[in-house]
Amino acid sequence: MNVDHIKNICVIGAGNMGHQIALRAAISGFKVICTDVSEEQLKKAEAFVAQYLPGRVKKGRLTEEQAQNVKANISFSTSLAEAAKDADFVIEAATEKMELKRKLFSQLDQICKPETILATNSSYIVSSKIADVTNRPDKVVNMHFFNPALVMKLVEVVKGPHVSDETAEITMELSRRMEKIPVLLQKEIRGFLVNYLLGYLNREAVYLLDQGIASAEDIDMAVENALGHPMGPFKLMDLTGVDLAYHISMEHFLETGDKADMPSPTIVEKYVKKEWGRKVGKGFYDYSE
Ligand code: 3HC
Repeated sequence: MNVDHIKNICVIGAGNMGHQIALRAAISGFKVICTDVSEEQLKKAEAFVAQYLPGRVKKGRLTEEQAQNVKANISFSTSLAEAAKDADFVIEAATEKMELKRKLFSQLDQICKPETILATNSSYIVSSKIADVTNRPDKVVNMHFFNPALVMKLVEVVKGPHVSDETAEITMELSRRMEKIPVLLQKEIRGFLVNYLLGYLNREAVYLLDQGIASAEDIDMAVENALGHPMGPFKLMDLTGVDLAYHISMEHFLETGDKADMPSPTIVEKYVKKEWGRKVGKGFYDYSE
């Protein structure tokens, strides 16, 4: 198998990441089915596509004909079996919960063709913690996009010990065909390259806030103006989801049992209050306007 065999892509999860990964693949000419257990989430994704494509045409980024082709390339389904049965490549972008992912990959292994590659867009979980539930561990790989996935160029591909050279090469080449810049990690590490580094920045930013050293706005302003980051850590957590920050830390804590890995009280409080960031209208900032 090589990348030219990949025509049909299934994206699992229509949330923050999934809907944009699906749309990116459709723009690059692949036939894509995006699936989610939530009909409401799929409707939101469909509505996003419906307003995004005319916007691209208006901005001169796509022609009317290209936009029509993209629209024809992407569909939505609540049925995992329907979405995955003909897929040559699956990208799982479901909630960041290990047991959920393990269950999904076990189901996918039954539904998909034997040659289908099963990739996870997990932000932190290395694929060796999932691959063992399948009969194709050599074809289970991390393919990690960044938010917003339509815009951010990087994709991390992780060559865990179980991943074949062929799978890693196809995933790298598929990323390029999706107009991304892939980076290959030769070994597994929790959080890969970028979230490994970002995790420290976010944790210490919350520490500075909790200590009353400066406000979230001022910490963001400092990082943006001193380090040249497009968004400071609090704006970025609001973009990627405070719920995601919570789940990531919680999963880490469950894995290590080390209290230092637990989500900080501020993140727990925001999680409980459902102040999850932009997608709900409030996080560290208020987006209700
Ligand atoms: N969805 C899709 N496209 C978007 C978008 C969104 N949410 N936000 C902006 N864009 C597009 C615009 O359409 C525009 O496209 P065009 O130039 O082709 O017309 C382009 O991005 C620039 O948009 P704007 O001028 O409106 O806005 P900015 O210049 O302020 O850029 C940003 C917005 C791209 C979000 C920028 O602020 C940025 O780069 N922020 C940092 C994002 C980042 O660090 N992401 C990584 C997070 S870590 C992560 O994802 C890990 C994961 O595991 C959670």
